[in-house]
Amino acid sequence: MKLVIKGGNRLWGRVRVSGAKNAALVLIAASAVAREEVILDNVPRIADVETQLEIVRALGGKTVWLGQNTVSLAWPGQIEVTPPYHLAKKLRASNLFLGALAARQGRAEIPLPGGCNIGSRPMDLHLKGLHILGFEVGLEHGFIKARARELQGARVYLDFPSVGATENLIMAASGIPGTTVLENAAKEPEIVDLASFLNALGARVRGAGTDLIKIEGVKEFGGTRFSVIPDRIEAGTYMIAAGITGEAITVENVIVTHLQSVIAKLQDVGLEVQSGEDFVAVKRTGGLRATDIKTLPYPGFPTDLQSPMMSLLCLARGTSLIVENVFENRFQVADELKRMGGRIRVKGHTAVIEGGTSLLGAQVKATDLRAGAALLLAGLAAEGETEICQAELIARGYEGVIEKFASLGAQIRCIS
Ligand code: UD1
Repeated sequence: MKLVIKGGNRLWGRVRVSGAKNAALVLIAASAVAREEVILDNVPRIADVETQLEIVRALGGKTVWLGQNTVSLAWPGQIEVTPPYHLAKKLRASNLFLGALAARQGRAEIPLPGGCNIGSRPMDLHLKGLHILGFEVGLEHGFIKARARELQGARVYLDFPSVGATENLIMAASGIPGTTVLENAAKEPEIVDLASFLNALGARVRGAGTDLIKIEGVKEFGGTRFSVIPDRIEAGTYMIAAGITGEAITVENVIVTHLQSVIAKLQDVGLEVQSGEDFVAVKRTGGLRATDIKTLPYPGFPTDLQSPMMSLLCLARGTSLIVENVFENRFQVADELKRMGGRIRVKGHTAVIEGGTSLLGAQVKATDLRAGAALLLAGLAAEGETEICQAELIARGYEGVIEKFASLGAQIRCIS
């Protein structure tokens, strides 16, 4: 799929943010522990969610869309413990069935997950944690295998606050006797959403959102109806779009506290940001200034908005530095932005952007989901037409992206 963007339109108006991709993906996997029906509201209708639901069905679960963004999930008594490779390889979040199936069945066999090509993304922290909790874990024929040995709550220290490892370990520990304490846990809002969801099913998870999470194992999980939090990365993308296209955009249905690091950086580059209870309004009133960004685990600046920010910084007067601290290979978009006239040098974990140039439309390739979003933003600001190939990667994470941008005044065509 290709997107063709006619640059130069000033974007203006209101846009409503969908449910968070990364929260929906983990809640869909976590539903496997439930013994009764789970209904999830505010689920984004995006390719990654459809794939995660396909995995549920392949394992024996039932999924039914009850409305545009509401899905019902039900798991029968007997289910499979091996997500099929042809589905698991499509997205990294397929690894989240590891913790969910381990909690429910005491056993899981997960194909080494696929997903965005942004670094090696190992699973060592997940496996180390499961081992400490009493699972026998190993890697055989491309599958991660976990099997219950002597399960007992324990203290697990994560060498890095990995989002996926924290989520898998919360899920696994929810069904294990005794108390598990996760130290140096990830603090992302999606972790808090997972804990709230599991607690609604009957789990006992405390401390989510801090780096110390305590889980008391329980035997019974019921069902629930639960609404997914808004997508802070989608929100940030539209906020950056306001800066890039030189007008004003109000981003609605957000949790403002999830966006503090993004708001601070947009103010640094000279944008006017106002926020209310559930909206953020971003306005460009003058020129853009260079700034430095370090990506960090939450509440630091999110790595998922690093590429979109790079597009913005290409336009900001002066020299900006971006230091990528979360993934080792997340600067591939730089080469594509260079095709559009961006002046960027990458050395190791650092990108140096000599800003203040204008971008020119070009043929470019989305190398991953967020790189695709960055190129879309760059295309909106560029002179002439930008053609993004592999644009299906963008649809993996942004619900109704063409319609939403069109409603703000963008001209984007999709060629299948
Ligand atoms: C999740 C998000 C992704 C986001 C990332 C960081 C989902 C579905 N995806 O990915 O959008 O960019 O958090 O905010 O929620 N690591 C290890 N060993 C491990 C696990 C991770 O070394 O066992 C490393 C990774 O290689 C990476 C870093 O830790 O360098 C962060 O990864 P992690 O937080 O686990 O990201 P994901 O859960 O894969």
